[in-house]
Amino acid sequence: MGSVNLWRFSSHILLLIGFFTTTNVLCFQQLPSRSIRPKTACSVSSLSVSGNYVPGAQNLDWTNLGFQFRATRSHIKFEYKDGHWGEGEFVNEPYIKTHIAATALHYGQAVFEGLKAMSAPDGSVRLFRPDENAKRINHSAARILMPTFPEEKFVEACRKVVQDNMDFVPPYGTGGSLYLRPVLYGSGPRIGLQPSDEYTLLIMVIPVGDYYKGGVSPVTAVVIDNYDRAAPRGVGDCKVAGNYAADMLPNILAKKKGFPIGLYLDAKTNQFVEEFSTSNFLGITKQGVYRTPASPTILNSITNKSLMALAENQGMLVDRSPIPIEDVKDFAEVAACGTAVVLTPINKVVYKDQVFNINGGTTEIGQVTQQLYTRIRAIQYGEEEDIFGWTFKV
Ligand SMILES: Cc1ncc(COP(=O)(O)O)c(C=O)c1O
Repeated sequence: MGSVNLWRFSSHILLLIGFFTTTNVLCFQQLPSRSIRPKTACSVSSLSVSGNYVPGAQNLDWTNLGFQFRATRSHIKFEYKDGHWGEGEFVNEPYIKTHIAATALHYGQAVFEGLKAMSAPDGSVRLFRPDENAKRINHSAARILMPTFPEEKFVEACRKVVQDNMDFVPPYGTGGSLYLRPVLYGSGPRIGLQPSDEYTLLIMVIPVGDYYKGGVSPVTAVVIDNYDRAAPRGVGDCKVAGNYAADMLPNILAKKKGFPIGLYLDAKTNQFVEEFSTSNFLGITKQGVYRTPASPTILNSITNKSLMALAENQGMLVDRSPIPIEDVKDFAEVAACGTAVVLTPINKVVYKDQVFNINGGTTEIGQVTQQLYTRIRAIQYGEEEDIFGWTFKV
């Protein structure tokens, strides 16, 4: 063996020794806070969570959290390579290292979700319908040729990341919650327009406050009549990142004109109500019917699905069919619904040069909207028996 070869041989041996030593150190040593904690065994359920924390143990101003990014202990990360998903790991570092040619960056191959975990009076913490988010992220992923993620594993990963950040869950009574934001994206390089070979699923968590801590009051919505949210046969029913990029400009323009929320019509005829930027539309007729649009280009809101079930459960008729924009003026109540704020009552809808005053433009929340809001929150916070099986204890 010549001296160069001998040097190569010994450096390989050194590398191997180094590898095994580092692996052992990673497995058995207390890790610094900004790092990746090692994967333990082969499933999400065996991922070890740090500490034995209780909700509210962090020193945060729980009643003034708002809805903004806040660093927590960890997010959970899964990687898809060589045709399968790897094991999950907790990561403390909030920055990610991604290939410069990642398809998410160039072609928008990215989808996300949003769900919440809430503290109950008995000290438990519950996730609201994470199984539905698991289904929806897969629906979105499949549309843009990304691998789906096993639903049970998704729910388990949501539980684990909440457990690891238990002290960031706002305590019961503050009205806050831990918001989970799963994001799945093409992380591998591709320059020709094709799906990536590699994907990453992250689930981050952020403590958020009670949007309505000062009380619920109705707002004015404006119909966005110079932009479309989703094309017929497009991706409006998927929670793909690009839908939200396209909405930023109309959204900001509406806000600049003083309208906190914008309502989109269908892109084909501009005659039918679709949905708000980040929430579904619902109206209560003067006869007490719950109406919400049926359209292949709106996102199937989990909040709306739950409210429809509650409305039916309390004897109301639910009508899911196209809603002409002109019908809106006849509703007794109108609201936007979604995970972030549950329900936003709307008292005025500005459509071109008309103003539709809902119930005379009242400044009070409608009776049915209030009932539904109170009931869904009571279920989410474990105050009312969950006869629907919607809450998942963490
Ligand atoms: C476009 C759009 N519609 C509706 C919703 C409400 O859906 P969910 O109730 O599942 O949060 C959201 C939020 O996820 C959304 O982004």
